Amino acid sequence: MSDLPSLRANGYRDTWCGGVLGDRVGAEARVAGWVHRRRDHGGLIFIDLRDRTGIVQLVFHPEDAGGAFELGHRLRPEDVVSASGSVVQRSPETVNPELPTGEVELKVSAAELLADAETPPFQIEGFAGDVGEDARLRHRYLDLRREQMREALMLRHRVTAAMREFLDREGFLDIETPVLTRSTPEGARDFLVPSRSQQGSFYALPQSPQLFKQLLMVAGFERYYQVARCFRDEDLRADRQPDFTQLDIEMSFVGVDDVIEVNERLLAHVFERVGGPSLSLPLQRLPYDEAISRFGTDRPDTRFGMELVDLNNILAGTEFKVFASVIAAGGTVRGLNAGKRELPRSALDGLISRAQELGAKGLVWAFREGGGWRSPTAKFLSAAELGALNERLGAEEGDLLLVVADKPKVANAVLAQLRLDLAADFNLVPEGADALLWIVDWPLMESSDGGGWDPLHHPFTSPAADFDPADPGGARALAYDLVWNGQEMGGGSIRISDAGLQGKVFAALGIDEAEAEARFGFLLEALRYGAPPHGGIAFGLDRLVQRLANADSIRDVIAFPKTASGADALTGAPAPIDEVQLRDVGLQLRAKRPPGGR
Ligand code: AMO
Ligand code: AMP
Repeated sequence: MSDLPSLRANGYRDTWCGGVLGDRVGAEARVAGWVHRRRDHGGLIFIDLRDRTGIVQLVFHPEDAGGAFELGHRLRPEDVVSASGSVVQRSPETVNPELPTGEVELKVSAAELLADAETPPFQIEGFAGDVGEDARLRHRYLDLRREQMREALMLRHRVTAAMREFLDREGFLDIETPVLTRSTPEGARDFLVPSRSQQGSFYALPQSPQLFKQLLMVAGFERYYQVARCFRDEDLRADRQPDFTQLDIEMSFVGVDDVIEVNERLLAHVFERVGGPSLSLPLQRLPYDEAISRFGTDRPDTRFGMELVDLNNILAGTEFKVFASVIAAGGTVRGLNAGKRELPRSALDGLISRAQELGAKGLVWAFREGGGWRSPTAKFLSAAELGALNERLGAEEGDLLLVVADKPKVANAVLAQLRLDLAADFNLVPEGADALLWIVDWPLMESSDGGGWDPLHHPFTSPAADFDPADPGGARALAYDLVWNGQEMGGGSIRISDAGLQGKVFAALGIDEAEAEARFGFLLEALRYGAPPHGGIAFGLDRLVQRLANADSIRDVIAFPKTASGADALTGAPAPIDEVQLRDVGLQLRAKRPPGGR
């Protein structure tokens, strides 16, 4: 650690632990921190003292007057201590090359115990991931003492600092928006807060600042940003939290290219500041349809091949009933070539189970053998079909081929995930490779399970051309997502800035005029008072830092995250409230029902 923050000398300390370096030999220093490790060596006591900046070795000699040695003897891990003495050179054989301060030690002449620590429930030093996450989250303030966690939160700070630095320079204004508000739909359930003064009414926590940033554009601020907390009641995954943080951005008088351009420079700036990958701009833009067709997903990991292939027209006349029935029902047969693999039957059965778990009815596996296949399915397909399949899949002798027949959405989703699984199993991602790209040219809506239409982004996204209410599925959107190594990092769009068009889009989404007025009347009204063309984006800050820190979960880059069940193991939230609080907000609890039940 080279750039230490400045430090005002006081009775506790005048030097950071990480600042006790070779150039201080012969000088006096006073440090304060936590006992990281304690060793008793033939009458000498060595204490590794830790603060935010690093670790320094203290040596307590028995002959030291003033009780310092006696205190050294009593110290236990995680006690808080202030100690002063002279900085001395270590003898060559005791130099610790692992530590920046490893050439010196502090020969203690006086020390004071500032706080006693109980024995921690898990070891902080030498932590090797063998402590359960529950324990870590329950005692997060101890977990955060670990170097890895400290580094992650310091990285997170440097990321937001670099974002602010760039956006400030580009004339963006940091403006806060409310947390107690009305529903801002981003596709999840709202968290609700009952009102005391208006019993029976509820605030919703914002799923994003989307509507407020649009209002700020109507208000004329032109360039806005916010490091914003967002709240979504949805099923959690490794990269999802119920409350999470976005870098939220909005601009006026812009088109897609303007928003993308400034955000690419923002990312390049942040990466440069914090040591992320160096970006060559402009980033690749991949149209949505191409992403789906080649990778089966709108967040493709393009660091390796194994692309999906369409097999429908080869199989149009097949007698294999599994494929024929799917094609007849308007479905699709798609496959991929997993390369030359030797897998035992159990592994192939495992692939079938995995495909089924992902929603497929089955999975055909095959190895190219001569002009045909070695596969239980080979006997159902003609020689001509097998030959054509091999050719379309680019199969060479011994290549493993996987085929799924289903509705396009299912076939794509299953193969997209199998592709990722196989890449992980077979180590197909090149070491150190990074792929950042934009997905552009999105459809505006997709048909919903209920027979209507759902937005692919949110209902405020602008259609790319005149919107035809008779053909909502044909409309394209002025939307863009940023994908990094197969993870969605951010998304945004140009917005609808015309109240009439917004009404038409609401109607296509099944939000009639009365509902639109009730839920979004304030937005529609604002759009009638001179709304500039505007658009923006939001990045998932937690995900961005997770990727930069190379962490497994976004929980590892959040100071106080929730567990997978949405609970806060440290405070015990969510927690029951008492009868008085319930009465205050005019609520009475019903009998419990299982989550998701009715
Ligand atoms: P969107 O819903 O795509 O867009 O969210 C933007 C980004 O936020 C991150 N993200 C999450 N991170 C952690 N936990 C979650 N539960 C979670 N949900 C989303 C993702 C995602 O890409 N208002 C629009 C943006 C806009 O149009 O400007 C929005 O919120 O990285
Ligand atoms: P079945 O006729 O259901 O016994 O299936 C015959 C073979 O086709 C088995 O290997 C199944 O795993 C496979 N299969 C079944 N349904 C599908 C499907 N929708 N897509 C791909 N393979 C399938």
